[in-house]
Amino acid sequence: MAKNAVSTAAPAKVSKDATIPVRGRVADLKLTKKLPKNTDAVIVAVFAGEGGSLELAGGAALDSIFNTKQQSAILKQLESIGAKGKANEVTRIPGAEDSAPVVAIGLGKAEELDDEKLRRATGTSARALNGFENVATTVGDLGLEAAVTGFALGSYSYKGLRKAKDEENGDDNADKPLAIHFMGGDKDQFVAAQVIAESVVLARDLVNSPSSHLYPESYAVIAANEAAAYGLETEILDEKQLLAQGFGGILAVGNGSSRKPRLLRLTWKHRKASKHVALVGKGVTFDTGGISLKPGANMDNMISDMGGSAAVIATIIAAARLNLKVNVTATVPMAENMPSGDAFRPGDVITHYGGITSEILNTDAEGRLILADAMALASEDNPDYLIDAATLTGAQLVALGGRTSGVMGTEEFRDSVAATGRAVGEQAWAMPLPEELDEEVKSPVADLRNVTNSRFAGMSAAGRYLQEFVGEGIEWAHVDIAGPAFNTAAPYGYTPKRATGQPVRTFVQVLSDIAEN
Ligand code: BES
Ligand code: MG
Ligand code: ZN
Repeated sequence: MAKNAVSTAAPAKVSKDATIPVRGRVADLKLTKKLPKNTDAVIVAVFAGEGGSLELAGGAALDSIFNTKQQSAILKQLESIGAKGKANEVTRIPGAEDSAPVVAIGLGKAEELDDEKLRRATGTSARALNGFENVATTVGDLGLEAAVTGFALGSYSYKGLRKAKDEENGDDNADKPLAIHFMGGDKDQFVAAQVIAESVVLARDLVNSPSSHLYPESYAVIAANEAAAYGLETEILDEKQLLAQGFGGILAVGNGSSRKPRLLRLTWKHRKASKHVALVGKGVTFDTGGISLKPGANMDNMISDMGGSAAVIATIIAAARLNLKVNVTATVPMAENMPSGDAFRPGDVITHYGGITSEILNTDAEGRLILADAMALASEDNPDYLIDAATLTGAQLVALGGRTSGVMGTEEFRDSVAATGRAVGEQAWAMPLPEELDEEVKSPVADLRNVTNSRFAGMSAAGRYLQEFVGEGIEWAHVDIAGPAFNTAAPYGYTPKRATGQPVRTFVQVLSDIAEN
């Protein structure tokens, strides 16, 4: 069973009710009208006013917690310890005039506030609430979705597989559950934002799971169980079925590992849907590079090479939970890229699902090989849209940095997905598929080769390769999330270290926009 994996070598048998080995934790968000009796702190928002002054973000809800005298005393206390109301500034004060302790979140200038600033500031503050168990807040008044997203995602912590400590010797308050009570707001909006945040957390938990525990066989079962719990149809193809049906890309990449590849399909159907969106996500549970072995430094980050698949699994589950009026399929190839006597080699020619052949020149360009099979299969359904997400190229990081996804595909849809990403606070930028790359992805011995001869435009070259597997007339967006899926730097805003859960929020928004049109 995945949970009890004790070895990194031969895989243990996967139980049919396998679950994610360890879940991360987030604050429990609640909607309430009255200040809970056991409130141990109140989170208030402060703006940077004229000439260095501070302004409380007030309103009826705040007035119901603090009277005028208390509000001005709180402001005075904050000013006296140098709070400026700058964006992401978090200040804790003991409270004034018998008020509860206060945590003040700086939001910058009131007239410059937008949803992403609110998400980031609430997210930053969520990491500064240790020791509290019940905090109340009125900042939902400034943007309910943004505050829910910021608090939920900012409070995420992943402890991994540490041996449990006994209570007496354990670390202080680390295990105390935190509840954040929202003082008022629309119930439906509140619940929808929570569902989406939970999906982001699901993607994070999958990505943070080590490859000793999350490998194709266990991943497929775990993801199918998560999806089945929300009424999705599930199907898993094992290595024998993959062979019988000709999935040469998935089989080649997975062959070097004792942990055999899988293809997972999830389906969400709404009976009033008029559009079908096919999602495809790269599920390389560990990428050593294979025979074209990667250097050792930071190779452990390659547990995140299934980030695209985690995002599409989490997205289709959110679609079901939100009852979105759109049909969605998720096609998820899963493989572990290992070097061994059974591994595929540079110089090999493989035949993808559907018959297109690829010459392998570098076994580390494996993501596109498994996506090719999956996209060819997904295209057979003639979806209106095909969206794929993948931690595909180091070139994405070179071009756009660690936080901004590269979006390629058919022009209009590509631009719209990138714009949606920016609108929800998941940075994204449209990238071209220049026509001169057509020649560069051709092979003398196969239809395609999996890398070009050039050092340049590696992200676009991968996109250009994938383009060959998108069916005629399908609107397509390919999202390279090599950097954005996994934060190797310090936490910021509502983004923790390690798994980020990107681009789940973008994809859910894209689906809900399609559902409404
Ligand atoms: N999984 C990597 C891409 C990657 C790199 C993701 C860094 C996250 C951080 C992918 O499989 C890969 O190795 N790509 C190669 C392609 C190259 C051989 C054309 C790369 O980018 O170096
Ligand atoms: Mg690779
Ligand atoms: Zn990879």
